[in-house]
Amino acid sequence: MFEKIIGLFAPSRELTVSVRGQGVEFKVPRGQTILESALHHGLAFPHDCKVGSCGSCKYKLVSGKISELASSAMGLSGDLYQSGYRLGCQSIPKEDLEIELDSELGRAIVPEETIALISEQKTLAHDVIGLTLMPEKPIAFNPGQYADIEYTELSVVRSYSFSTPAQADGSLNFHVRLVPGGVFSGWLFGGDRTGTTVTLRGPYGQFGFHESDDVMVCVAGGTGLAPIKCILESMTGTQRERDVFLFFGVRQQRDLYCLEQIQALQRDWGGHFELIPVLSEEPATSSWKGKRGMVTEYFQEYLQGRSCEAYLCGPPPMVDAAETELLRLGVAHGSIYADRFYNRTAATAQ
Ligand code: FES
Repeated sequence: MFEKIIGLFAPSRELTVSVRGQGVEFKVPRGQTILESALHHGLAFPHDCKVGSCGSCKYKLVSGKISELASSAMGLSGDLYQSGYRLGCQSIPKEDLEIELDSELGRAIVPEETIALISEQKTLAHDVIGLTLMPEKPIAFNPGQYADIEYTELSVVRSYSFSTPAQADGSLNFHVRLVPGGVFSGWLFGGDRTGTTVTLRGPYGQFGFHESDDVMVCVAGGTGLAPIKCILESMTGTQRERDVFLFFGVRQQRDLYCLEQIQALQRDWGGHFELIPVLSEEPATSSWKGKRGMVTEYFQEYLQGRSCEAYLCGPPPMVDAAETELLRLGVAHGSIYADRFYNRTAATAQ
């Protein structure tokens, strides 16, 4: 817990949010959501989707009035809503507020905003581009976190996880999947965008590495590989003596990517490192000799009897299914870390 008033001398048009029982206050500029503002101040306010779907940014409104971008009732159960819970990503304070959180508000790296140049764009798979940005200002981040990329010409902001640890030249790498109807990904896939400038904000997110001796179970769905790869590549020394099972779930063979980088990691690993690609829609007549179906079908075979810690990244249905199966196999709830990739294109109808 930390006693702090953040933005004490800020102009009076800002409103104050006090977190009950934690000695924390932060200022919210008019028109900004509670979540945006908390993250801006480097507070680790729980969140995931930022679009009102996942419910992870829930807080209890103790006093004060808010307006909502979309009703919190959409992302919360009826019971929670009736008990006064609201969503931080949808709540704009109309007056000073007191709120309550179910967990202690930790500290995060304070996000920065900077202009960044697209310095490289390369095809990693038929629908995945590796995007390299060179920011004007250095951006510090923890492996597993993500940044928001805004291209103002298209009035679009998208979130992407860092796909490599910090680079010596300060460049930042991301994996961008082509989303049907996606404004940003569609633009990126439409031509060579190197030399274009975008606005970068970050880092955000609480997904990241945890020290343990347990077997690391990594489950990546599609470009969910990016933060997992980033975490694995950032591990050093004795951390690389941990056994790793990396389940990589995609639809077809042509969707598998970055296999050379994974193989390079395997060669450098001290412990056992096994990559298990699983294809869910590979034609039955193809030459594929590997696993087929859903990643969850293979957990028992590889993990039974092992003490595991899991890192799950990808589309919410896959992450939810993986979590359910791991719990069934006896993995402790507190040893499962998840990053759900929400489709903001669908959520914002852009
Ligand atoms: S509902 Fe707010 S972060 Fe998901």
